[in-house]
Amino acid sequence: MDYMINYDETKIPTYTLPDPLTDLSGRPVRDAAAWVLRRRPELLRLFEQHVYGRIPDADIPMGVGGTLDTAALNGLATRKEVTLTFGMAETPPQIHLLLYVPNAATGRVPAFLGLNFFGNHTIHPDPGITLGTVWTPVEEGSKVLAPRPAKDTERGLAASRWPVERILKRGYALATAYCGDSDPDFDDSFHNGVHALLPRDDAAGDAWATFGAWAWSLSRIMDYFEMDPHVDERRVAVLGHSRLGKAAVWAGAADERFALVISNNSGCGGAALSRRRIGETVRAINERFPHWFCTNFKQYNDHEDALPVDQHMLLALIAPRPLYVASAEEDRWSDPRGEFLGALHANPVYRLFGVEGLPVDEMPDLERPVMGKIAYHIRTGKHDVTTYDWEQYLNFADRHWGHS
Ligand code: GCU
Repeated sequence: MDYMINYDETKIPTYTLPDPLTDLSGRPVRDAAAWVLRRRPELLRLFEQHVYGRIPDADIPMGVGGTLDTAALNGLATRKEVTLTFGMAETPPQIHLLLYVPNAATGRVPAFLGLNFFGNHTIHPDPGITLGTVWTPVEEGSKVLAPRPAKDTERGLAASRWPVERILKRGYALATAYCGDSDPDFDDSFHNGVHALLPRDDAAGDAWATFGAWAWSLSRIMDYFEMDPHVDERRVAVLGHSRLGKAAVWAGAADERFALVISNNSGCGGAALSRRRIGETVRAINERFPHWFCTNFKQYNDHEDALPVDQHMLLALIAPRPLYVASAEEDRWSDPRGEFLGALHANPVYRLFGVEGLPVDEMPDLERPVMGKIAYHIRTGKHDVTTYDWEQYLNFADRHWGHS
């Protein structure tokens, strides 16, 4: 590691953000039609080409199977476990979706969807959750992961991040899948997970990488929601924490079926502006996680100013859909101020649609959420997803979906 990490606001180099409302040929984007028809597709391509990689355009057959328990969580919910199977290989990639639907609901319900880090069985101690396969280091400290069966003792280990009962009682469904189902999180030359489904041109600077695979899996789950009788596919919020927040924002930017997008402490490569170079930088992320972004993104190590985009433009791709960006005070690695500014500088695109984006110009105080079509809060504490964060997301969804 031969780079310095800066945490001092006064040492941020001067930078100019690229303008979301001027296209590559220098033409101004003056209305929503020009944004939708001309600038949005151009920006999406730039993010594919320079940052996240291009998701191959291919129709892969998806098989759907599953089980259902209508008396889960003491009768509060129906638990569905849905297996999505891709392609015809002997051992095809599968995504194991865990879905809780509130039994008190009538009709199709809005849902929160997010990938989880450690396996479905870790989000709640519910003994009915199937123990799947998880990827863990081959030996302590190793960066190489191998699959192993999940253990009973791991049930509920990440439960503090998933207030399932609370979400259900507020009338929402919750859906999650293990990120390792679509791509294990290590530099495996893209041999595992869904990359194996499609020929990958390793020489192409814009070949899809881990964020591409995770975003792809979220969109396939959305395909499934379009068939599910319990979920209202027009009201699905995609969310994620940290690296999975980066994946959620990329998925939400690219796939407009996600009606609401939530970034929880997504930081560098998520909501935070890369040009600020404070906390985690483009170099730091590319060196430690070479498999996350496409190869072209590495050209911008220490050359952030050369990027044709910055992360406010990624957030702008979500316009005019509701977007929530959340930070944590002690999470300096993710650059809370950069996350706020990412959201703020998406505003001009929301305005093009005649809606208010973020309703403030300055960063709000701790635990004072601000909510327009774009919402933001910074809470006390560390890099994490807490019930405080969830409470705001539920309020935000109620507000935009008139749901309570
Ligand atoms: C590391 C990484 C971050 C990432 C985080 C996480 O800290 O540098 O970019 O967000 O892991 O996913 O928890």
